[in-house]
Amino acid sequence: MAATAPATAATPAVAPAPRRRPTRRAGIFGVGAALPGKVVTNDDLAQRLDTSDEWIVRRTGIRTRHWLDGDEQLAPLAAEACRRALADAGREPDEVDRIIVTTITPDRLTPGLAPTVAGLIGCPTSVVTADLNAACAGFLVALDEAAGAVESGRSDVVLVCAAEALTRITDRDDRSTAVLFGDGAAAVVVAGGDLEGGIGRFVHGTDPSMADALYVGIEERLLRMEGQTVYRHAVARMVEATAASLAASGLTIDDIDLFVAHQANARIIQTAAAELGMPDEKVMIDVDRCANTSSATIPLALERAQREGRLAPGATIALAALGAGFVWSAGVVRWKERAHVCA
Ligand code: UT7
Repeated sequence: MAATAPATAATPAVAPAPRRRPTRRAGIFGVGAALPGKVVTNDDLAQRLDTSDEWIVRRTGIRTRHWLDGDEQLAPLAAEACRRALADAGREPDEVDRIIVTTITPDRLTPGLAPTVAGLIGCPTSVVTADLNAACAGFLVALDEAAGAVESGRSDVVLVCAAEALTRITDRDDRSTAVLFGDGAAAVVVAGGDLEGGIGRFVHGTDPSMADALYVGIEERLLRMEGQTVYRHAVARMVEATAASLAASGLTIDDIDLFVAHQANARIIQTAAAELGMPDEKVMIDVDRCANTSSATIPLALERAQREGRLAPGATIALAALGAGFVWSAGVVRWKERAHVCA
């Protein structure tokens, strides 16, 4: 090996720039969605309820929702969303070592959806599978847990899938809730790399004193909600948590390319965005198409945003959600960031 030439006055020693130590951070590298074939319009609902397309659009922004038909199951829909997310990420099912399915409406009380999904997509039997219930904040809580598993080295490739059938817990005779909900599944692939941003620091919160404002009782199995109370808290908590997550990441609103909040009501999203100072063109609305699918709304909106060209690789996204509990979460994610794969 050649000896290093000694420094002279003519050739001053220049210390080589310290190489940035690769840090294994988790990021999102693929997204996929699957919706039931049955589409229900506001006019369809107005045929059997005292409501109208005009009221629903004006108060919620919802125009259509997808519903499972009859005894159609959720697991095949979730599996399809996972297959599409893996294809989008260029990954194979045998690379997946953890699957988290967020749901409040599994096909059976037990087993959960995640083991069934693993079987349907053909994951190795060594895969860790678990369902997670954090209501409408479930996808963000699971994303944070997936990032932790990848960054700690306990997992390499994690599927985070949100799969919900809100029609199973909707009182179809109560117009104040019957028009609000839909069914659907969407998934992302979380993996590690030497990333600048990846899945940033998340901010979470819990207020159990609000449990009775939004719940499904074990006997009745129908969703009951104090709409205006949930509305007010959703705006306030999502604004606070988004602002806190931006601060934790050293970012401002100007750094955000797209704001993807839980899609319960377009007015909630637009009010929160306005309070944050987020311009309209950076606000993702998908509630018009899918209505409120609980934990599935955010990944469904991400899939649509990518398909419609609103999410390019490297985009910076602010995510926020509030749901039953109350539990809420917000965080900043760099979309499909180019990664140097860490060992
Ligand atoms: O995913 C979990 C998080 N969930 C949420 O974030 C949902 C939060 N809440 C909301 O989005 C809204 O509160 C609702 C969409 C649920 C309700 O909208 P609102 O603007 O708060 O309406 P409201 O409850 O104050 O009701 C206004 C009126 C009432 O009539 P009166 O008392 O003024 O005569 C309701 O009976 O609208 C009536 N109404 C309806 N009218 C036609 C309620 N539902 C309907 C309906 N069609 N479907």
